[in-house]
This record gives sequence, C-alpha cells and structure tokens, in this order.
Amino acid sequence: MKSGRIVILTGAGISAESGLGTFRDVGGIWTQYDVAEVATPEGFARDPALVRRFYDARRENALAASPNAAHHALARLEAAMGDRLTLITQNIDTLHEAAGHRRVWHMHGRIDRARCADCGSVTPWAGPMTAEDTCGDCNAVGRLRPDVVWFGEMPMMLEDIADALACADLFVAIGTSGAVYPAAGFVADARVQGAKTLELNLERSDVTSLFDETRLGPASDLVPRWVDELTG
Ligand code: APR
Ligand code: ZN
Repeated sequence: MKSGRIVILTGAGISAESGLGTFRDVGGIWTQYDVAEVATPEGFARDPALVRRFYDARRENALAASPNAAHHALARLEAAMGDRLTLITQNIDTLHEAAGHRRVWHMHGRIDRARCADCGSVTPWAGPMTAEDTCGDCNAVGRLRPDVVWFGEMPMMLEDIADALACADLFVAIGTSGAVYPAAGFVADARVQGAKTLELNLERSDVTSLFDETRLGPASDLVPRWVDELTG
C-alpha cells in the first residue's frame, strides 16, 4: 500500500448499477419529483403523507438492492487500510454496509432509519412509514420522518469530514455530479492542503477541473481496477 490517508466521497452513481436511480441523470429522480415537495422540511410540513410515500418507495428499492462490484471493492480497500480510509457517502442507501464496509459516514442520513420530528430519537425502520406510527421514546403519534437530510437542512458529520479532509493524502470522488454543496466543495478543501485528487465517474462532474485525474466509465469497472492498483 503506497498511499497514506485516503478520503472517498460516493454519490448515487455508485449505486446506479445496483438498480437505484440517480438524481440528475436522464430520467433521474429529480426529473420525476419536485424536490421542494418531497425533500424539504416545508414539503414535509405541507404534505407529510406524500413525503413518506416518496421515501417508502426509495426504502423498498434500496433494501431490495444488492451491492455491486464497486461497493465490494471499497470494502476490500477498507479491510486493507483500516482507519486510514474514510468513506463518506451522500447516498441514503446502505449498499456500502451490505458489501461489508464497516465505517460509513452517511452525510445525508440513511433510509433504513426513522427520526422523531419532536424528540429527535432515531430508530431502525425497514417498512413503510405512516401517520399512525408512534415514537418509541416520546410517544408522539404521526411525527416520524425518514432520518435523511433534506435541502435546507445541515448535512451530518461535517466537522469529522473537515478533519478527515484536512489530513487526506488522496481524495477520491466516485459517482457524484458535484452539483450539491457542501459535498461538491470537498475536493477543493482537500486540494488546498495538498491532497492528490481523483474522480471516478460515468461522465465529467461539475467540479471535474479540480481533480488531478478523471477516469470515465461505470463504477463497477473503474473502482475494482483502482482498488487493485492500490492493493497490488
Ligand atoms: N458509474 C459511475 N458513475 C455513474 C454511473 C455509474 N454506473 N451512473 C451515473 N453516474 C454518475 C453520473 O454521471 C453523475 O455524475 O453519477 C452521478 C450522479 O449524480 P447525481 O444524480 O447528481 O447524484 P449525486 O451526485 O449523488 O447527488 C448528490 O444531491 O439530490 C441530492 O441528496 C441528494 O445525495 C444527493 C445529492
Ligand atoms: Zn419522539
């Protein structure tokens, strides 16, 4: 292993070959749904049933999907590197975990958890979410929401992420369009302290000019090849 500390950021593109939709590709999720209606606190306040139905469908798809060769390759890399590898994902699916990845930082939350909008308690949640569901901690009824980060809300683990980027030797973005901040800014944060940067994506991202190297192709092909290069 010739590299020091590696920070990886994944996006919807790494789960595309597992059958989960991306957001901004042709036919992507945001071409089918209005973000404001289904992925903002205002949308949830206006029509909680619509928001729950939107995430029920994504939860069902995510939990029925299987990790692909890219997820497995990153789990292999973590086994070889231990805590010198930090994996940050924008994805709310748990395909990294399903591939055996042990330490996954979900900066946009997870679809397999519910959060009480009143007391904030978080519990595992595999099925549909309804207005009748009760919080196990504060007994509020109909106040459960998916434990995901909506537009206008603060992403999770940003301090830990900043610390990891500050001491990364290599930053790698996989399957993300670089369209949404703060995630799209991570490459600049890594560069400013001297990290090398690598983009593995189906097409060039909005921040592709900030990467030392961009490799274009499907993640299930690029990621195992890259991991094999690193682990020999
Ligand atoms: N292999 C590699 N990359 C792929 C593949 C694939 N098989 N298929 C698609 N891609 C790339 C696309 O070219 C695109 O650049 O994945 C990227 C997906 O971009 P988006 O759909 O914008 O997804 P993402 O970058 O994860 O979105 C970031 O935006 O809507 C919010 O919270 C949501 O976490 C999401 C965030
Ligand atoms: Zn509660």
